[in-house]
Amino acid sequence: MIHQFDALPSTQDKARELARKGAEDGTVVVAKTMTGGRGQHGRSWHAPEGGWYASIIIRDLQDPRFLTLSLGNAVAELLEITGADPQLKWVNDVWIDGKKIAGILVESESTGSNLDFLVAGIGINFNGTANDFPEALRETSVTLEDVLGVDTCIEDTEAYILDTLKAAIDKARRGENLEILNAFRARDALKGQKVRVGDVEGTAERIDENGCLVIDGTPVDAGTVELL
Ligand code: BTN
Repeated sequence: MIHQFDALPSTQDKARELARKGAEDGTVVVAKTMTGGRGQHGRSWHAPEGGWYASIIIRDLQDPRFLTLSLGNAVAELLEITGADPQLKWVNDVWIDGKKIAGILVESESTGSNLDFLVAGIGINFNGTANDFPEALRETSVTLEDVLGVDTCIEDTEAYILDTLKAAIDKARRGENLEILNAFRARDALKGQKVRVGDVEGTAERIDENGCLVIDGTPVDAGTVELL
C-alpha cells in the first residue's frame, strides 16, 4: 500500500506511526515536500517540491547495514538509467560529481531485544536546482535536473523506482551480501581518498566483508566521513 501526501513533517515519522499500528511489510509513505525531513546523525534533510521523499516499512530483516548499502546501489542504478554517473559515499550518500544527489536513512524500532520493524527513508533530488537550496547546502548538493538539464516526470517513474527499491530490500533480506558489497564497491567514491571518521584518519582503502569502511587497515563501522 502506498500512502501519498502533499506535505508531511517527515515521511519517516508517518511510516513509524503506521508501523506501530500494524501496517504491513512494504507499506510506503511518499510526500511531495517535508517540513522536518531527517537525515543521518540527527541532521535535517532539505525537502522542497521537486524531490522524491519516501519511507518504506520493512519487517523480518535483521541487518540494516547491508540494507543501506543495497538501497544505495538501487538509487545509483536508477540514476544510471538516465545517463548520469553516480558514486556512493559510504555509508548512505549518493553523489554525482562529488555533490550529494540522494541520501538513505534506515531507522529501527525495537521492543527489548526484539527488532519490531525498520523504516528505510530515501530522498532523491530530482527536479529544480540546488542553486535554490539554502546557502549551506548549495555548494555540496546537486539535483538530477542540474545534471541532465531536463526535469523528470516523477509520477510516471514512481512505480519503477519503488520496484527497484523493493528488489534491493529483498536482496538484503535474502542475505546476498557479497553481491551487494561488490555493486557498492564498484561505485565507491571514497576509495583512495584521505578521510577522517571520528578519531580515525587516513586513506580509505575499501569496504570490507562486514560493510565497514577500512581506513589504513582499521575497519570503521559507523560515523560521518569527512573528506580531508
Ligand atoms: C542522509 O543523507 O542523511 C539521509 C537522508 C534521508 C532523507 C529521506 S527523505 C525520506 C525520508 N524521510 C525523512 O525525513 N528522511 C528520509
